[in-house]
Amino acid sequence: MIVARSIAELDVARDAIVGLVPTMGALHAGHAALLRAARAECDVLVASVFVNPAQFADGTDLSAYPRDLEEDASKAQAEGVDVLFAPSTGEMYPPGFATWVEPVGVAEGLEGAHRPGHFRGVATVCVKLFNIVRPQRAWFGRKDAQQVAMLEQLVRDLNLPVEIRVVETVRDADGLALSSRNARLSPAEREQARAIPRALATGDVEAARAVLAEAGLDPDYVAVRDLVGPTLAIAATVGTTRLIDNVPLREGAAP
Ligand code: PAF
Repeated sequence: MIVARSIAELDVARDAIVGLVPTMGALHAGHAALLRAARAECDVLVASVFVNPAQFADGTDLSAYPRDLEEDASKAQAEGVDVLFAPSTGEMYPPGFATWVEPVGVAEGLEGAHRPGHFRGVATVCVKLFNIVRPQRAWFGRKDAQQVAMLEQLVRDLNLPVEIRVVETVRDADGLALSSRNARLSPAEREQARAIPRALATGDVEAARAVLAEAGLDPDYVAVRDLVGPTLAIAATVGTTRLIDNVPLREGAAP
C-alpha cells in the first residue's frame, strides 16, 4: 500500500476502475465494511484520511477528533487499500482558498439546522477529493443518511462523474451504531446511548421520543425525512458526545 501525503504523490492508474472511500480516520468496523464493499467493486482502491476542519463549527470537537495515521494505515492495508491519501490541511486548504460548495435542498434541516456550515464543509471537501482522486465510484455509510442524500443531490446537480454507493450501518452487539465518537462515552453514557437504537426500533417519532425521554435524553431532533428513502433519524447528545443514527422506514411511511 502507498501512503500519499500530498496531491503530487497521488498517482492512480487511469485505465482502471478507481474506488474512493473518504474518511476522517479513526477507522473502525464501519469503515472496514465500506472498504470491503469498495474492494469488491474496483481495481484500485483509494481511501482518504483527512479530518476536515471546514465541517466542524466547534474547535473543541475538531481538536478532540481522534487521529492516529499509523493505526489507520495498518487497518487500511489489512482491508486491501492500494493508496491511502492523507493530505495536510494546508494541502487541501492552501492560503487564498476561497471557493465553497453550498448545498441546500436535502442539506437543510436536521444536521443542517443543528450544525450550520457542516454540509458546506462536507460538500466542498468531497468535491475536492473527487477531483483529486477522480474515482468512478465512492462509498459512504448509511449512518450519515443526510450526508449521503446531500452527496447524491450534489453529484446529480453538478453532473459529477462519480457514482455514490451506500453501505448499511454497522452496529455493536448492543445496537449502538459504530462511530469514532463512541470511544468518548463512559460506561454509564454508553448505557444511556443504547436508548437511541431502541428508539429507532419503534419506527415512530412519538414512540421514539418516549424511549429517549425515559433514558433521560433530550434529542436535537427525532424526525422522519426522505433521505436514502423514508428514514427515521435521531440526533442526541449523551454526556458531551453528540450522536446521530437512523433507520430506514418501509416505503410509504414518509410524510
Ligand atoms: O463521513 C465522514 O467521515 C466525512 O463527512 C467525510 C465524508 C469523510 C468528509 O470529510
